[in-house]
Amino acid sequence: MIDSPQKGRQHHARTMVAAGFRSYGPAEVLGPLDREQPEIRPDTVLVRVAASGVNPADWLLRSGRLRFVARSRLPFVPGADVAGVVEEVGRAVTRFRPGDAIYAMLPSVAGGGYAEYAAVAEGAVALAPPNLSLAEAAAVPLAALTALQALRDKAGLRAGNHVLINGASGGVGTFAVQIAKVMGARVTAASSGRNAGLVRGLGADEVIDYTRQDVTAGDIGYDVVLDAVNVLPVRRASRALRKGGAFVTVNPLIGMLSPGWLARFRGGRRVESVFVQPGGADLETIGAWISSGKVRPVVDRTYPLSEAAEAHRYSESKRARGKLVLVVDERFAAAESGRGV
Ligand SMILES: NC(=O)c1ccc[n+]([C@@H]2O[C@H](COP(=O)([O-])OP(=O)(O)OC[C@H]3O[C@@H](n4cnc5c(N)ncnc54)[C@H](OP(=O)(O)O)[C@@H]3O)[C@@H](O)[C@H]2O)c1
Repeated sequence: MIDSPQKGRQHHARTMVAAGFRSYGPAEVLGPLDREQPEIRPDTVLVRVAASGVNPADWLLRSGRLRFVARSRLPFVPGADVAGVVEEVGRAVTRFRPGDAIYAMLPSVAGGGYAEYAAVAEGAVALAPPNLSLAEAAAVPLAALTALQALRDKAGLRAGNHVLINGASGGVGTFAVQIAKVMGARVTAASSGRNAGLVRGLGADEVIDYTRQDVTAGDIGYDVVLDAVNVLPVRRASRALRKGGAFVTVNPLIGMLSPGWLARFRGGRRVESVFVQPGGADLETIGAWISSGKVRPVVDRTYPLSEAAEAHRYSESKRARGKLVLVVDERFAAAESGRGV
């Protein structure tokens, strides 16, 4: 258990430091904001945030490009990933208590993670893996949940399947390679040449350099193609599948535009898209793999919360290797997990 410096204090109507934006725009609009600490509800856990992971959705929201699908109330605090210490629990919460080191994904377009405190539904929370620092734990939730839900729920990946993971060096891709291996699949990973060593080190059986070769060429006939960076056209990805195989993309729109019945005309090849959902049970599954050393987060860079704009610029370059993390509280972020350690 980790003692919070403010344990026992009255949090209501207190202000906290956050990073956010008052108007949509480039990375420069992101800056410090004074916000009221979130209200705790009966089924929520108030978390003192040690660190928050950065995801492309954060800068898509900031840019305003998602404003027609996800209307953010301004000023807005981005951030879907948090790791930290439970400060207080709502009266209906049974699984957590103050001092627990936890990690969680907040609803993806709701934001709130780039802040000293976040309120999270109990069902979205899991104890942080004890062998990670809280900064490392913050790198896990959204990206790892996306990889798990894409491979297990959308693709229906089975032991012995052969899967192509495109974008294997990114946040989602680095988890997808490892999770596919845990699930017993053979993994062909596509990345640029400079990241070949990284993805091989994560367990990929073969690596294709997408800058030199069309990753969908050849007649391998994958059981599953996961496009973790949303660059493969459906037609090309489907061509790389065996009959009855599944193409899963991180572009949530493609699944809607390509209804399941179309698979009949494509030799049973399915086109699916993943739209990641928070989930404490899935984080427990991932946490067990992390605790046993089968999966690890790859953290490319960490930044103090005050440099959130710099982190967004790097993420927007689409060159990050694994995850970027904002450290909100340096002392907590370096600490290892609490209960269960
Ligand atoms: N639908 C959902 O629920 C959901 C959830 C999470 C993420 N997403 C989406 O998934 C995408 C990836 O997210 P992320 O967090 O993994 O992003 P990320 O970490 O920023 O991805 C960066 C990585 O992408 C690789 N990359 C860039 N262009 C590539 C290309 N043409 N082919 C192969 N790899 C390429 C880069 O490797 P190289 O430098 O080697 O090229 C880099 O390592 C984003 O579009 C995000 O919005 C969707």
